[in-house]
Amino acid sequence: MFMAKDIYILGIESSCDETAAAVVKNGREILSNTVLSQIDIHRLFGGVVPEIASRNHVEAIDKVVAEALREADVTLKDISAVAVTYGAGLVGALLVGVSFAKGLCQASGLPLVAVNHIEGHICANYLTYPDLEPPYLCLLTSGGHTAVVRVADFDEYDVLRSTVDDAVGEAFDKVARVLGLPYPGGPQIDRLAQRGEAVFPFHSVVISNGNFSYSGLKTAVINLVHNCEQRSEKIDKANVAKSFNVCAVDGLIQALEEELTRTRLNTVAVAGGVGANTYLRNRMREFESRGVRVCLPKLSLCGDNAAMIASRGYFMYLQNDFADLSLNACPTLKLRGEKPHKSV
Ligand code: KG4
Ligand code: ZN
Repeated sequence: MFMAKDIYILGIESSCDETAAAVVKNGREILSNTVLSQIDIHRLFGGVVPEIASRNHVEAIDKVVAEALREADVTLKDISAVAVTYGAGLVGALLVGVSFAKGLCQASGLPLVAVNHIEGHICANYLTYPDLEPPYLCLLTSGGHTAVVRVADFDEYDVLRSTVDDAVGEAFDKVARVLGLPYPGGPQIDRLAQRGEAVFPFHSVVISNGNFSYSGLKTAVINLVHNCEQRSEKIDKANVAKSFNVCAVDGLIQALEEELTRTRLNTVAVAGGVGANTYLRNRMREFESRGVRVCLPKLSLCGDNAAMIASRGYFMYLQNDFADLSLNACPTLKLRGEKPHKSV
C-alpha cells in the first residue's frame, strides 16, 4: 500500500522577544517546541528594547534550533523545509531568524518557506485541534493586530473587521503600565481583574463602521487613574482592571457574534497572545450554547512560538510556496486579504 511520506518542518521565530524553534510533523503534530523568552531582560525597561532583543536573538538562535532538533530526535536530513517568520515584527529581531534560516538552507540545500507571523498565530489552532479545517471565523488578538478574519481556506483569509488604531494587546500593556504593573501587562491585568468588579462604564470599542478602536478606551482608563491621583483618591486597581478587561473583550465578542450570524459559519477560533485571557476564553465558550464549535489554542500556543510557524510552513510547503535566498524581513507585513480602512 502507498504511504504518503511524513513531512517534518523546522520552524524558526524571532519577531519580538522570544527566540523559538520547533519541529512539527504534517502541520499538526508538535515534536518539539523550544521557546527562550527574553521577558525578564525587557521587564527592567518596562517594554521590549529592539536593539537588546536583536542581540539576545543572535546569542541564542543556534542553541535554540539545535535544542529543537535534539528534542524532536531528528537531524536536518529528516527535515523537508525550514519555515521562518519574516514579518510582521521588529526588523532587527526578524533579521536574526531570517538570516539564520537562509544560512541553514544554503548549507543544507533545504527549501525555505517565508511565514507571516499572524498567519502563524492562526495555525496554533491546527496544532490544538488536529481535525480543524477551514472555513471558520478567527478572532485575531495579539500585541500588534486585532481583527475578525474569515479563514476561507488554509491559504485564504478575508479580514472582516480590524482596529483603526491600537491593537487590543497594546491597550492591555499600556493600561497595565498606568496601573504600575510590570511588563508584559496582559497577564497581569488578567490576574488582577479576577479580583475586581466591572464598576467603571467605558464606551464600547466597536465604532460606527463595525471596526474597533482601542485608543479611546486606553485614554479613558488613563484619565480615570490620573484624575484620582490628582484628587489624592485611592482607586481600586482590581476594579479598573476588570472594567477595562470586560470592555476590551466584550466589543470583540459582539463583533464575532454579528459576523457569525452574517456569515452563517459555525466554527470560531482565537489566535494571538490575548487569546490566553481568562475572561475572553470564558466569553468565547458561551458560543457553544448556540451550537457553535469553539476552538481555543492551548495556552502555551497563544503567545509567540515556532510550532505555529512550522505548521503554517507545512501548508505553504504543500502549495510549493517557497522563498529564495534574497528573502528580507518585512516589519509591516499585513495579513493576506487585509484592506485599508474605510473612513468612519
Ligand atoms: O501574540 P503575542 O504573543 O505577540 C504578538 O504577536 O504581538 O501577543 C502579545 C500580547 C501582549 O500585548 C500581551 O500583554 C498579551 O498578548 N497577553 C495577554 C495575556 N497574555 C498575553 N493579554 C490579556 N490577557 C492575557 N492573559
Ligand atoms: Zn505574536
